[in-house]
Amino acid sequence: MAERRRVLRQGLRGPVEFGRPEPAAPPGRRFRPAWAEVDLGAVRHNVAALRRVAGAASVCAVVKADGYGHGAVRVAKAALAAGATGLAVALVEEGVELREAGITGPVLLLSEPPPEAFDAVVAAGITPTICSVEGARRAGVAARTLGASLSVHVKVDTGMHRVGASEDEVGAIAAAIADDPILRLEGVWTHLAVADGEASEDRAFTRRQLERFDGVLARLAAAGHRPPVVHAANSAGTIAWPASRYNLVRCGISLYGELPGPSAAGALAGPAGTPDPAGAVGGRRLRPVMTLHGRVSAVRELDAGERPSYGRLRPLPVRSVVATVPLGYADGLPRALFDAGYAVLIGGRRCPLAGMVTMDQIVVDCGPGSPVAPGDEVVLLGRQGSEEVTAAEWADLLGTITYEVLCGIGPRVPRVYSGDEDLQTRTTVLPQPEQ
Ligand SMILES: Cc1ncc(COP(=O)(O)O)c(C=O)c1O
Repeated sequence: MAERRRVLRQGLRGPVEFGRPEPAAPPGRRFRPAWAEVDLGAVRHNVAALRRVAGAASVCAVVKADGYGHGAVRVAKAALAAGATGLAVALVEEGVELREAGITGPVLLLSEPPPEAFDAVVAAGITPTICSVEGARRAGVAARTLGASLSVHVKVDTGMHRVGASEDEVGAIAAAIADDPILRLEGVWTHLAVADGEASEDRAFTRRQLERFDGVLARLAAAGHRPPVVHAANSAGTIAWPASRYNLVRCGISLYGELPGPSAAGALAGPAGTPDPAGAVGGRRLRPVMTLHGRVSAVRELDAGERPSYGRLRPLPVRSVVATVPLGYADGLPRALFDAGYAVLIGGRRCPLAGMVTMDQIVVDCGPGSPVAPGDEVVLLGRQGSEEVTAAEWADLLGTITYEVLCGIGPRVPRVYSGDEDLQTRTTVLPQPEQ
């Protein structure tokens, strides 16, 4: 430390404060051996699989929440290249990010914009969802202010009860849109609450939602409103509910390679009625898009009875080699993984956590006499050799869903893209161990 401080002093003019941070890393340089690999080839593969399932319906790629943690811009470009006809986002800011990245395809905002955001929506060429007569009025005002005609989609609440106009309000909203020549009613949509459920109650509820939606469409048609785009299906609807496909499906989790839930697995049952857990969609398996990696940063051999990490929660049963891996709960590895029995892959073997997950690091029990060394690759999510740790396994361990696992991989984990047709090879972009 004294030597380090001396070097720091030599490199600086003027008084030096103790603990002054070292100069920032040059842009683009990464020092922490941890990364999430995002396979854009898998995105393209999944879009192709979903297009086959969707049949005549177009596929809209849902890239909200930074593309479920994968990187919205890169996923959006890959999905559009693979034949998705549009994108969906939750926030105005997310739509603007896509436009600023040069993406010109249709972008649907899945909620009515906040009142102060209508101008930004029109300026960015985003298609807003409208859920109220007041929203239709604001959309018209913004479109006139910016001198641009505006296509809108009306959302009807058929049972999700989150956002959307009631079935009774939709007619007045459609009329308000039709009365304003600068607006065009391009779409009407709803959202399914339990399309991923297998229980008979869930199935009955989804049926009821679709009946209600059909009723809304019939009443709109009777009043002369026939929007060209009609949509209801999320991934589960797309896979398990053909009647929900209309002419557009909004796919999120399946785009990222995960099945949405049991009904999807059931819908993919083979001839003998056995669900295909690997998720064959349209005759092709979905491919997980994200994997999570690190490199061993330290190794120590500890005696039986030693209790690594905060809380000293569990004694090692035998003398064992314990490896430190530089990812922690600030990166999306919840502390609950420890008690749940989570294991990472090192050297193609499952190695359980040796102690509580900390903010930036985990400690892993590699077993007696393990040859593990600093720099060895660790797979926290994904495949290594014949072993695989899946997002579904994380979700089971944590009592949650794959959506939360993937969205939870934090922004300070660099995303490294592979399978991009623009890249020469994938290995050139992966961080290499320190020499
Ligand atoms: C309105 C809406 N449509 C579609 C989706 C995509 O759902 P999934 O990820 O289950 O395909 C979402 C995601 O939550 C959504 O909110």
